[in-house]
Amino acid sequence: METTIRPIQGTEEIDACARMMAGSEPWITLQRDFDASVQTLTSPGKEVYVAAGGEEILGFIVLNMQGGFIGYIQSIGVAPGWRSRGIGRRLVAYAEERIFREAPNVFICVSSFNPGAQRFYRSLGYEVIGELTDFIVRGHSEILLRKTIAPWREFKKRPV
Ligand SMILES: CC(C)(COP(=O)(O)OP(=O)(O)OC[C@H]1O[C@@H](n2cnc3c(N)ncnc32)[C@H](O)[C@@H]1OP(=O)(O)O)[C@@H](O)C(=O)NCCC(=O)NCCS
Repeated sequence: METTIRPIQGTEEIDACARMMAGSEPWITLQRDFDASVQTLTSPGKEVYVAAGGEEILGFIVLNMQGGFIGYIQSIGVAPGWRSRGIGRRLVAYAEERIFREAPNVFICVSSFNPGAQRFYRSLGYEVIGELTDFIVRGHSEILLRKTIAPWREFKKRPV
């Protein structure tokens, strides 16, 4: 089956992504339930892209493209049965292509209790910037990561 990456469409797809988040780590430990996940996927300034295989939503990525922290990957998830098949890599590559047209940095936070995702980002060239202790829930940190292509003063936006 061919997998395509495209903007999210309609409430059914939003619900499918919210279910994926609410039913999976790290969001269970981070206490992000279905309603909070819908809010993450629909709040202003967010862009959401999905990996779709036919009618099925296999994964998603949420970008924050506004404000001082432009280029922040807020969330990424792949459906449990579809992990480790390269879909996550494709979603991040798609997000980088999108973000690097407008900003020279991609930021992402990964939970301290999520070593699989930490390995995933390291293999994609993300650098650790620092640790945000007790950031979302007490007792766990979020680790801020960055990939950069230039300082802001040397960066030129490319038309969409
Ligand atoms: C992290 C995630 C998005 C990666 O997507 P994916 O489609 O599984 O990743 P890919 O197939 O593109 O890349 C897999 C690579 O990532 C790493 N990796 C990802 N998840 C891993 C895990 N749970 N354990 C070990 N390695 C993992 C490995 O290096 C792996 O390479 P390999 O397959 O050659 O061993 C996906 O596993 C996922 O949804 N995890 C649960 C939600 C999550 O942790 N989201 C990140 C929040 S910051």
